[in-house]
Amino acid sequence: MLDILTICYLIGSVTFILGLKMLSNPATARNGNLVAAAGMTIAILGTIFLYSYNEDGTDKKLTNYIWIFSGIVIGSVVGTLVAKKVKMTAMPQMVSLFNGMGGLCAALISIVEFDHLIKHSGEVHAGFLAIILVGLVIGSVSFAGSMIAWGKLDGRVKDIAFPGQHIINILILIAIVALAAYVSISFTPESSWLFYAIFALAIIYGLFFVSPIGGADMPVVISLLNSFTGVAAACGGFIYDNKVMLTGGILVGAAGTLLTILMCRAMNRSLTNVLIGSFGGGNKSASAGNKDQGTVKEITLSDTAVLMSYANKVMIVPGYGLAVAQAQHACHELEKLLESKGVEVKYAIHPVAGRMPGHMNVLLAESDVAYEKLLEMDQANEEFPTTDVVLILGANDVVNPAAKNDPSSPIYGMPILDVEQAKTVIVNKRSMKPGYAGIENDLFFRPKTSMLFGDAKKVLQDLASEVKNL
Ligand code: TAP
Repeated sequence: MLDILTICYLIGSVTFILGLKMLSNPATARNGNLVAAAGMTIAILGTIFLYSYNEDGTDKKLTNYIWIFSGIVIGSVVGTLVAKKVKMTAMPQMVSLFNGMGGLCAALISIVEFDHLIKHSGEVHAGFLAIILVGLVIGSVSFAGSMIAWGKLDGRVKDIAFPGQHIINILILIAIVALAAYVSISFTPESSWLFYAIFALAIIYGLFFVSPIGGADMPVVISLLNSFTGVAAACGGFIYDNKVMLTGGILVGAAGTLLTILMCRAMNRSLTNVLIGSFGGGNKSASAGNKDQGTVKEITLSDTAVLMSYANKVMIVPGYGLAVAQAQHACHELEKLLESKGVEVKYAIHPVAGRMPGHMNVLLAESDVAYEKLLEMDQANEEFPTTDVVLILGANDVVNPAAKNDPSSPIYGMPILDVEQAKTVIVNKRSMKPGYAGIENDLFFRPKTSMLFGDAKKVLQDLASEVKNL
């Protein structure tokens, strides 16, 4: 018969899956988060009050409530304060920091259980020890790597690369695997120092593995490390024979892996290229800014306002610059004004616009833009031929035609928003500086394109006043 704790775990597992499903749509994402969090709360409370373990032939329940609840209170307060304070542009850093904590937890579980194993069991099962070691290694790599990723995104850590680094990394990895196999198969209490040597090597590997990767590639790396943390947590589920921990870990591992693959695909890059390609990092692309592309044409605010106000259909293309400028509210204001003048306004969302998955969707949802106005890339590309004005706000790489027609470009093959199919293209950015990929954009020099220089928020606010006065 099912006991209450198993039912709690079942509820937890089902809500994780439901929550994940709901997260895939902006309209249900917020509730999805709450549903999964509620399931997690039930699973945690069930474990604290209902879990019993066998020690010396007797069933015992947890008693160290002061420690448990102190940890919960401190973690909840710190987590809530950090999450409330964080700016949207700093979200990838926060995700990395939290992910690192998950990895550290998994590694600590392995250390505690290893200690427990030595002290309390006579016979050590190789399989069980192997799971403890896998949790230790993956959790430690995820923790150390996430800390470097957080430091890079926050501008505290620089890209560090030295000749032969990838070979050293491979050697460390081989040493970790060999030592872990040795410890699992022929463990003796005297060789327990090897366990801590593996822990130290895994931390070093995590630091070395992420440190040469270009700072701008960090979102992909964070997604990969996130999947590592999931696998490490799943190992914890095996160690404790805890189904909900296992389900949660597997879901995080699978979701992180899929997200990594999807991000790489949307950028048309392989994972190897992300991990060892130094794309967007210190080595700027060879084609960056060395071509004479002629001059750009500028447009005034009042001309832009007239063009947009008398258009039938306007498509807004948001990019990283919109997030930097925090211009999402100003953007929504302009959209409402244009609609009050009978203009149809939609948004074209590229899958890797911004710096994290769903960045533009989250940003625009924050300013209450209706979800049905957000077009995915394929839909948007179908609608550009019937669009009068495309307004590009702080986007660059995702509209760069080099992705279609310059085989020497590092972004060649990346699907882009085909904005040139529209009648007029207006690009707002502050200067002629390149975006994430570090390359020139031919679009800015094309006859259909006009540049509207300035900070996105200021430009949108001024544009709204001009539109109002028409
Ligand atoms: P980017 O190509 O990075 O271009 C952003 C542009 O915004 C810059 O050219 C910048 O030009 C402008 N900008 C910055 N601050 C601004 C401000 N305050 N006001 C107006 N403009 C401003 O952005 P994108 O087109 O969104 O492309 C995203 C890139 O990130 C892609 O290459 C993608 O592969 C990469 N990436 C994305 C992700 C995810 S998951 N989204 C993850 C990793 C990498 P100025 O400096 O001249 O203003």
